[in-house]
Amino acid sequence: MPTWVQLVYLLCAVCFILALKGLSGPKTARTGNLIGAAGAVVACVVPFIYKPNGVEHLHHVPLILIAIAIGTAGGVFGAQRVQMTQMPQMVALFNGVGGGAAALVALLELHEIVSVGGDAPWFTLAATAFTIVVGSVSFAGSIVTFAKLQELMTSRPVIFPGLPVAFGGTAVVAVILSVMLVNSPHMWIGIVLGLLGLVFGLLLVLPVGGADVPIVISLLNAFTGLTVAAGGYVLGNTVLLVAGTLVGASGTFLTLLMANAMGRSVANILFGALKGGSTLGAGVASDRPVKSAGPEDVAILLGYAEKVIIVPGYGLAVAQAQHTLRELVEVLQARGTEVDYAIHPVAGRMPGHMNVLLAEAQVPYEQLKEMDEINSEFKHTDVVLVVGANDVVNPAAKTTPGAPIYGMPILNADEAKQVVFMKRSMRPGFAGIENELLFEPTTTLLFGDAKDSLGKLLNAVKAL
Ligand code: TAP
Repeated sequence: MPTWVQLVYLLCAVCFILALKGLSGPKTARTGNLIGAAGAVVACVVPFIYKPNGVEHLHHVPLILIAIAIGTAGGVFGAQRVQMTQMPQMVALFNGVGGGAAALVALLELHEIVSVGGDAPWFTLAATAFTIVVGSVSFAGSIVTFAKLQELMTSRPVIFPGLPVAFGGTAVVAVILSVMLVNSPHMWIGIVLGLLGLVFGLLLVLPVGGADVPIVISLLNAFTGLTVAAGGYVLGNTVLLVAGTLVGASGTFLTLLMANAMGRSVANILFGALKGGSTLGAGVASDRPVKSAGPEDVAILLGYAEKVIIVPGYGLAVAQAQHTLRELVEVLQARGTEVDYAIHPVAGRMPGHMNVLLAEAQVPYEQLKEMDEINSEFKHTDVVLVVGANDVVNPAAKTTPGAPIYGMPILNADEAKQVVFMKRSMRPGFAGIENELLFEPTTTLLFGDAKDSLGKLLNAVKAL
């Protein structure tokens, strides 16, 4: 590879690192994303320009260009159409095709190796086997996570007798075949490894319940990163090696952080259902009596409170009510009320969901308080306004062993003097379990779509 190509690849790798750095804060995230995209475009263009030893190495250029055009059109169309609340599925799909592509590239490399008599260093063959298996796992697993979140199939854990044996058996056969491939490379071994990877991916994700699916998406993302890194080694391409390692490492960190925020281990998330552990509740709406009120009554509670904490959740994103919420908070602040937003690490359906949503509505970043920072303030708070959130304030996380969210750190909304829940019905949150806080004497429910209710509340507070 000529020096200039290596330098350009180094520049691309620096772009990816700067992108990750930028993505770590809402103010710099957009720029970070653009820098990463620019690096990726340059890395894709380079192979079209340079010729190793002056020899044209790219074949079927028109077909490659057509594939790029189709991929670009699909990506742009998908990204423009996707709703904020559907982002995890989108990530799953993009991640899955990345893993699948890496597995296909490794199969093609194996074909090259086999066609020149199978003469390749053992490490290259081991990396090829790894890429084929793990890329296929990532592809099949991601498609299942997509189907679960898009409700194309049940989001409950799917388990059947013999699943652990099938799971373990698939893994053992994959390892044996990988060793065989390293010793004596054959195309049929590669193809069977790919098929085993697909089966393994299905068996890995089917037993995972809906509330845990976003964490598995992040884990599969890490798998894809490792696959791409191994593919980069096989192809001798440094930029793939660096990009894959970055994705692998950041995906692993994200998985651990999310599991931590839910108070669970990654093993428990993946295999909890196999041990008979609960991963999702029944999801039935409660018919127990609750205290409900209209916007005018809630406006009085809020308008005369000294300190208010807003707890945003998934329902706020569904209703797209973030702008109305920001307006309401501004009106309350103008009346002299102290208002903060309490951000739970897994509020919504993906990491940083609430931060992004509220940043989009121009909520000043200083008003967003992370859970650890704000949890001690609830006991000095007059009113907590829970907007489309449920699990993240459910005391069952502390009090009910065996509940799907047991052990998850929650926001201490139950310690405030008054709690107002804004939701449409008595249906539970994502974990599918009842929330005792809804039935407390200090709790009031304001039923309705969050955007609609917030609009009425805003007018009622203005009229005070
Ligand atoms: P949830 O517990 O899912 O509660 C959302 C609430 O919003 C529901 O009670 C729903 O009640 C209400 N809602 C839905 N649409 C609404 C609308 N248009 N207007 C008003 N209310 C509406 O959400 P949460 O508290 O944000 O908790 C997040 C959940 O996702 C947790 O279980 C968490 O573990 C899980 N999870 C999150 C992540 C990340 S990283 N964020 C990752 C994995 C899992 P109604 O249907 O009655 O309106």
